[in-house]
Amino acid sequence: MARRRQIYEGKAKILYEGPEPGTIIQYFKDDATAFNNQKKGTINGKGVLNNRISEHIFTALGAIGVPTHFIRRLNMREQLVRQVEIVPIEVIVRNVAAGSLSQRLGIEEGEQLPRTLIEYCYKDDALGDPLVAEEHIACFGWASQDEMNEITDMAIRVNDFMCGLFAAIGIRLVDFKLEFGRIWDNEYSRLILADEISPDGCRLWDMKSNEKLDKDRFRRDLGGEVEAYQEVARRLGLLPEGETNEVVDLDQQRKKRGK
Ligand code: TMP
Repeated sequence: MARRRQIYEGKAKILYEGPEPGTIIQYFKDDATAFNNQKKGTINGKGVLNNRISEHIFTALGAIGVPTHFIRRLNMREQLVRQVEIVPIEVIVRNVAAGSLSQRLGIEEGEQLPRTLIEYCYKDDALGDPLVAEEHIACFGWASQDEMNEITDMAIRVNDFMCGLFAAIGIRLVDFKLEFGRIWDNEYSRLILADEISPDGCRLWDMKSNEKLDKDRFRRDLGGEVEAYQEVARRLGLLPEGETNEVVDLDQQRKKRGK
């Protein structure tokens, strides 16, 4: 078999040329980084879980009419996606204060924000993905005004949907990061949701205990990373039947103990 061509290697994924023009294969690695690559590690099995979780969320978003790059999952670690021209902006959506927002503005972690907040970072590893304003995006032409309107509309829609999806399984969606890409049709382009949505780029807290079920476990040396990612997958109904039953049993035992 011909060796496929690697297009790009990022911190958590490798991109390969897809089988047809305009497609790409996303390979999910177990590598984890934080603080712009200053902290590095491996979370065994993370790639498999993120591949499944991202597939699930992108499929669900597609079903409500949000255009995404996702085509289909190929195997445990790979998915086929549409090739896009990535917009060099990380779109951060926040419902609850945490992380860099709390640090920057001195707002206590866990405080519900008065309204959903959208922030933008310029995607540039060498600069550490700095926070930028919409004026920077317009000034340097990273995205047009029409594209920014579309991006914010889609981000709000994704947030509303994901808040509900996670609330239904007892998880508070604190914040998350989205990336968008352009697909071209002659001289016209349109935007679709790209990259991944997984516990690597979301803050997910258990609604009852506030336990962190996301990459903050790695960033903050809390341990139990893979168990947390597994718990998210399990609650989304993505793990085999036996393991799901185990959780149901545990839940029932907990309830009995509580009574
Ligand atoms: P922050 O509080 O560190 O700015 O992160 C906000 C959210 O965005 C959090 O859920 C993690 C996610 N995120 C990424 O996915 N990639 C990044 O490079 C950064 C800085 C944040």
